[in-house]
Amino acid sequence: MSTVFLNGEFLPSDQARVSVMDRGFLFGDGVYEVIPAYGGHLFRLLPHLQRLTDSLRAVRIPDPYTETQWSGILEELIGENPGTDQSVYLQVTRGVMDRRDHAFPLGLEPTVFAMSNPIPDPDPALAERGIAAISLDDIRWQSCHIKAITLLPNVLLRQQAVEAGAAEAILIRDGHATEGAASNLFIVRDGTLITPPKGPLLLPGITRDLVIELAAGHGVPHRENAIGEAELRTADEVWLTSSTKEIMPVTTLDGRPVGDGRPGPLYRRMHGLYREYKQAVREGRAG
Ligand SMILES: Cc1ncc(COP(=O)(O)O)c(C=O)c1O
Repeated sequence: MSTVFLNGEFLPSDQARVSVMDRGFLFGDGVYEVIPAYGGHLFRLLPHLQRLTDSLRAVRIPDPYTETQWSGILEELIGENPGTDQSVYLQVTRGVMDRRDHAFPLGLEPTVFAMSNPIPDPDPALAERGIAAISLDDIRWQSCHIKAITLLPNVLLRQQAVEAGAAEAILIRDGHATEGAASNLFIVRDGTLITPPKGPLLLPGITRDLVIELAAGHGVPHRENAIGEAELRTADEVWLTSSTKEIMPVTTLDGRPVGDGRPGPLYRRMHGLYREYKQAVREGRAG
């Protein structure tokens, strides 16, 4: 039985209870984070906590804890649960209301929940074969930079991808590729790594930032630029990134091969750099 954190307490998951009047349950009124931990060390903790603060501020939920308190809670949580590598999920909702009303009463106490689950190393076959993706219309709202628990469009998009035999959906809005249903997008053209700039139409991914940082630190040409649909379809390489899936090379898009249909050379280089970084985190040499 895993141990979870709920409103100040650590307890077995089957004893954790949230009210049916919680605004997270009734409205999806809350935000979340997913933070991997390798060898007991939380990966890129401060950027994750900064994004949490930004999401909370954007939806006007007061941050229940300081950075130090958050770190203490999450470290204790991973210590309580098995697994060298774990993925921490945390969510903060606006709290429990007296009666159902969209407008929020001031002064509610946020509901804070966190759990941690073991994560396996990514399947090595992924780096050999890559994944299939399909392109779909980005049907989400205009504030995709907020990591909101309200994920119905993402759920439906991912399901559509799975039913089409693909691992992920790449979203297209007004002729431009924004990101995946639960991942950020990179393409490679003529040796340059390109990812769409941050803004309200995509989540500022922590893995995305790390990939850019690794590119900058190792002389990989890169730029942040809008990606037109035609550019996506003729890219030499396409990657999707996320904290739990790391870097996924997309080798078919809408049933057609990307490049030569195999993970490309720049992917292999970045995958190596990423693995080194992850190992440094595991050994406590990087954060
Ligand atoms: C819509 C969306 N974009 C991008 C990402 C990747 O973000 P991160 O690298 O911080 O996990 C996620 C992660 O879940 C996501 O849901």
